[in-house]
Amino acid sequence: MTATTAPAVGSPLGRIEGPAKVTGAARYAAEYPVEDVVHAWVVQSPVARGTLDAVIVDPTTEDDDVLAVLWHGNAPRLEQPDDPELAVLQSERISYRGQAVALVVARTLEAARRAAQVIGLEITEEPHDTLLTADHPEIYSPEQVNPAFPADTRSGDVEQAFAAAPVKVDVTYRTPALHNNPMEPHATIAVWQGDDLVLYDSNQHPPGVAGAVGAVFGLPAERVHVITEHVGGGFGSKGSARPNAVLAALGARVVGRPVKLALPRQALFSMVGHRTPTIQRIRLAAERDGTLTAIDHEAVEHTSRLFEFAEQTTVATRHMYAAANRHTGHRLVRLDMPTPRWMRAPGEAPGMVGLECAMDELAEELGLDPIELRIRNEPRVEPESGVPFSSRQYLQCLREGAERFGWADRDPRPRSRREGNWWVGLGVAGATYPTMAQPSTARVRARPDGRYDVAVAATDIGTGARTILTQIAADELGVPVDRVRVRIGDSTLPKASVAGGSSGSASWGWAVTGACRELRRSGNDEAVYDSTEEVQQQEKDGKHAYGAHFAEVRVDADTGEVRVSRLFGMYAVGRVLNPRTARSQFIGGMTMGLGMALHEEGVLDPAMGDWVNHDLAEYHVPVHADIESVEAAWLSEDDRAVNPMGSKGIGEIGIVGSPAAIVNAVRHATGIRVRDLPVRLDKLLPYLA
Ligand code: MOS
Repeated sequence: MTATTAPAVGSPLGRIEGPAKVTGAARYAAEYPVEDVVHAWVVQSPVARGTLDAVIVDPTTEDDDVLAVLWHGNAPRLEQPDDPELAVLQSERISYRGQAVALVVARTLEAARRAAQVIGLEITEEPHDTLLTADHPEIYSPEQVNPAFPADTRSGDVEQAFAAAPVKVDVTYRTPALHNNPMEPHATIAVWQGDDLVLYDSNQHPPGVAGAVGAVFGLPAERVHVITEHVGGGFGSKGSARPNAVLAALGARVVGRPVKLALPRQALFSMVGHRTPTIQRIRLAAERDGTLTAIDHEAVEHTSRLFEFAEQTTVATRHMYAAANRHTGHRLVRLDMPTPRWMRAPGEAPGMVGLECAMDELAEELGLDPIELRIRNEPRVEPESGVPFSSRQYLQCLREGAERFGWADRDPRPRSRREGNWWVGLGVAGATYPTMAQPSTARVRARPDGRYDVAVAATDIGTGARTILTQIAADELGVPVDRVRVRIGDSTLPKASVAGGSSGSASWGWAVTGACRELRRSGNDEAVYDSTEEVQQQEKDGKHAYGAHFAEVRVDADTGEVRVSRLFGMYAVGRVLNPRTARSQFIGGMTMGLGMALHEEGVLDPAMGDWVNHDLAEYHVPVHADIESVEAAWLSEDDRAVNPMGSKGIGEIGIVGSPAAIVNAVRHATGIRVRDLPVRLDKLLPYLA
């Protein structure tokens, strides 16, 4: 690095695409001006299980503007995809309510929507089963849970430890179905150029979408060009190709014109993957001094008839606390429901509700401060793998966070603080998220004017990835950030991993670092670096980010209304590459955690076989009025064992401990322990008087 250049990494650089976004110049998938484009609308199944026998288009309502009505009876045949949800309009089987069963393509959006509304579907309906229960007769154990963890782990003798323990907690926590609601719903414009396909598509992984959509049309990934310049949020729901991309391409092929398919928000609730509801039984056994002797955490979840997705709900429990006797497990039920998928911190977010609320219950049983209980069970090495930690500042997060939050002032007795009509309580919970990196390739070119072009097929889903990669490249090249131009969001750029698992900056930054170093070393004007070999040498366990979440809640003594007056997160996440974008990730995750604790729930009607709430009027996500004070801070940490930047992932850890901290604070405020999220006033009211 040249002596005159201050490091860019670590500075709060504003988003490079910020001006384009706030002036409306930034283009999202559905906004590209594509000539001759026509519009598609999806017809969704009105039943949860059965067969679609015929589709009838009433000639009296048929509109000249309608170009095609596609269903399994007339749609072109597709190659069998790895993901059965992408085999759209290929089978008479209906696997869930809301499944795409037909597609209308029309000259105008209005004509497409109108025709989809009046279409006749002849369906043979079959009895369905959509209700998850812990004693479901078809419950089974999957081999693995997402992405490739063993479903069960066991060590020691849990039953014996329970029989012998003087203090025990045996509780069941439930989390509801949750739905990804990015500001920008999923959208695709599909354009065929001969046998090559161009997709303007909103997703978290352009090369992955190119591969998956190409495969169903029998095309190699190179023949599919996916353009994903800007994305208005994803949270996992855009991590792989969704049916909209295939439907748009199918429609475009049939009508011979570009087709735009922008999903209405209602369709997101069944078509893009939700978070499974969970039923978690958690048992903790301890000595009277708080030393844990056994941890047993088992989750029951659902998957679909089409595809097995098993959320890794109890995997975080394998990393948190020492105990000689342990069991974690997952049980699944195949229901006539959409396939659950990734939603911000799949596994950790629901699983840490169970573990961290149960720890709070145990602390109360023991008469011990909940932070002290965690301190007494800090492991020296990873509890299940035995691998040493590359860095772990969990206790520092708890202690420093407690100091900043004012934990010492807390009277440990529940329902001990009243301010006017409010019961006030404080809660704490721990957080962890694995530190991951995936192979990626980056290219850097030195231009004659002294500028540098960096290219990698990454995506910025609103996190600030483009900005951070610019900072990383500037430091490695020893130039100011304004001499670096980063191109991302295009599948034809050097191959990059998914914007998921909080691994984007680590994975792409690693490749960008390698390419810049290679450029300087070689003295050439272009360098390409593929990180595969270096990334694969990394130890898999022992590398986590940690955090401690603190909440102050107020509960109205008469109405049971819950307000979160303060939410604070203290993190240890390696080197923070950009404090401004990092803070946004933390407080965004914490806000989403507040939604999980208090608001969000897919409300199932088992008779209809679907969730009854399908929009933001009835599925409540937090809005500004729900947020009073939400703040994040972090400890100094720089872990070069994890990647060349010394950074850990930050996109997901904010949602991990926040819900449990809030639930624990509600308990402290009111004396009421709600074990069934979300904590709504109807669950508090009967016990408030
Ligand atoms: Mo995140 S659920 O890994 O996109």
